[in-house]
Amino acid sequence: MADKKAQLIIEGSAPVELPVLTGTVGPDVIDVRSLTATGRFTFDPGFMSTASCESKITYIDGDKGVLLHRGYPIEQLAEHSDYLETCYLLLNGELPNQEEKARFVSTIKNHTMVHEQLKSFFNGFRRDAHPMAIMCGVVGALSAFYHDSLDINNPRHREVSAMRLIAKMPTIAAMTYKYSMGQPMMYPRNDLNYAENFLHMMFNTPAEIKPISPVLAKAMDKIFILHADHEQNASTSTVRLAGSSGANPFACIAAGIAALWGPAHGGANEAVLNMLDEIGSVENIDKFVAKAKDKNDPFKLMGFGHRVYKNFDPRAKVMKQTCDEVLAELGINDPQLELAMKLEEIARNDPYFKERNLYPNVDFYSGIILKAIGIPTSMFTVIFALARTVGWISHWKEMLSGPYKIGRPRQLYTGHPQRDLPADRD
Ligand code: CMC
Repeated sequence: MADKKAQLIIEGSAPVELPVLTGTVGPDVIDVRSLTATGRFTFDPGFMSTASCESKITYIDGDKGVLLHRGYPIEQLAEHSDYLETCYLLLNGELPNQEEKARFVSTIKNHTMVHEQLKSFFNGFRRDAHPMAIMCGVVGALSAFYHDSLDINNPRHREVSAMRLIAKMPTIAAMTYKYSMGQPMMYPRNDLNYAENFLHMMFNTPAEIKPISPVLAKAMDKIFILHADHEQNASTSTVRLAGSSGANPFACIAAGIAALWGPAHGGANEAVLNMLDEIGSVENIDKFVAKAKDKNDPFKLMGFGHRVYKNFDPRAKVMKQTCDEVLAELGINDPQLELAMKLEEIARNDPYFKERNLYPNVDFYSGIILKAIGIPTSMFTVIFALARTVGWISHWKEMLSGPYKIGRPRQLYTGHPQRDLPADRD
């Protein structure tokens, strides 16, 4: 909706009038689309001041620590919903009724297995390959298996691809783990719920099928909910950009997985645990906090800070509570956890972190829970990717369901102007 106007005054030129768009909530947005007709562009590296799209899926108020999916607060979803219901909500815009939920869950269950041939892709990887490297390759390779649903202009095909991706991600994620362990890959079990089935495929073997702890399955489900979507973050924007060229959904999600892998984004949960290992003990915290504050040192406190949340990360709040529950259930007294809590306390009271609004983010606590559940550090980002797949695919579907243009940013060119090759060349 545009009822206000902004005026851009550029020295020596006539003022340019720009519409100001108003969302349902959140700040007004200056629509600069007409600027290109004046021969000028905006410059905003890192998209600090740029809305790349219009969306109805997720809303974040970083100052107030608010995160809403289709209007519902993340705290309520984490407490009273479950992951598959949240998936339905993100994909379809409304919570399902009982019948819709049962049909959705059943459809997801019908797609949990992967083609047997997909297993052979794993053999091409070294056993010590990072699971995210395998995920990028294997998820991208799904495009070679589902030619029946790759017409991105067909809403039914988009729907089927979305279901396949949500259903198969836990299977593929667990396969990467089993491959690294040299253990047989486990088939999914459709009598279990989404989180239980994932833990079954991760930790059971054909020789020994142990029951899945309901507390751990619940915690896993919460981790999935808390990572399900986060509006236009780096990986989601990557998926949208890849999708805007008409690429198939499996290729787009593989691009999202690649973007998520970086330590500034989804790779942070793994980096938190590696950092805690490096710090080693409580006595070393001060030294590492000083390193994080030193502008000549690239070291950052992993799990602290966020581009959007400048007060607190609402996901971190829920995660901290889940963390306490899981550790109590498992009776874990982990010195690394004690170290993490001490680090949190010191950093939160340090003027450097306070002035810059650097609070623990979701990844600070999720790594600790995942470790307690018995998931190896290298799998942490894989679990983030599994959970975020629904967010990526919801944004991809939203973009394709309306008018869209190929994403093609411009640049401020600061290289050589045109010049000629030396005259002595033939
Ligand atoms: N440790 C030390 N200093 C930091 C940290 C940190 N973790 N994060 C930001 N700063 C400083 C930064 O050096 C800068 O200082 P100055 O103003 O003196 O130059 C100031 O705080 C502002 O930081 P920024 O880098 O401009 O902020 P950004 O919005 O570009 O980056 C971030 C956000 C998440 C990439 C960054 O805070 C970071 O690298 N954090 C550690 C990695 C991490 O935990 N990432 C997970 C994010 S949550 C999960 C997800 O959504 O993917």
